Amino acid sequence: MYKLKKSLWLFLCAVCITGMMSCGDDEEPVTPTLYEKLGGTTKVADPANPGQMIEKGRLGLRSVVDSTIFVIVGEGKITQYFTPLLTEVGAGNTTGLAALSKSLTDFFCVGTGAKNFTYAGKNMKDAHDPAKNPRMALKSDNGDMDIFIQSVVKGAQQNNVPANLIGEVGVILESLRADVVQR
Ligand code: HEM
Repeated sequence: MYKLKKSLWLFLCAVCITGMMSCGDDEEPVTPTLYEKLGGTTKVADPANPGQMIEKGRLGLRSVVDSTIFVIVGEGKITQYFTPLLTEVGAGNTTGLAALSKSLTDFFCVGTGAKNFTYAGKNMKDAHDPAKNPRMALKSDNGDMDIFIQSVVKGAQQNNVPANLIGEVGVILESLRADVVQR
């Protein structure tokens, strides 16, 4: 009887110690980030760069960004803001377009919680102030910010991003309205 009790105590102590050890700060977060929900760091083949791998989360966000640019240009509702870029592209120079795609993708990756990328562009206030960024042809108003967000939603829908995750992206974009809208 005594031996049974002693082994029971040992067992309970072991359970407690194991429990305490697992409380370390190197545990995975319980709530996944939006980046993780969009595919996260799992490496997949990059369809745009044969032979290269890309994080699934980044591929998803890059696809959304590129589709969004197509929506904006295709609809022509807010293209007046992008005249420097469109003039370049019209002349056959796609360097600025590639740079914008990368910059927007970096911004979205970092904004949704990616750890392996950094955003090196301007902050949202400066990026959307023509005095600080000559590539922004004029200051945005609220209505054109709405059209921009709708364009991102359409870009995401074209890439089959689930509606609840598009909603989460929308919340992030809305949080930046005060910085982006300057007239
Ligand atoms: C929350 C919404 C928005 C986000 C997150 C966003 C994000 C960005 C980012 C990351 C850049 C690149 C900045 C850099 O590389 O330094 C950029 C540039 C730009 N954005 Fe936005 N933007 C938003 C809304 C808008 C709106 C509403 C407009 C116009 C109506 C707009 C027009 C532009 C233009 C014209 C550029 C410069 C493009 C170029 O490099 O040629 N953006 N934006």
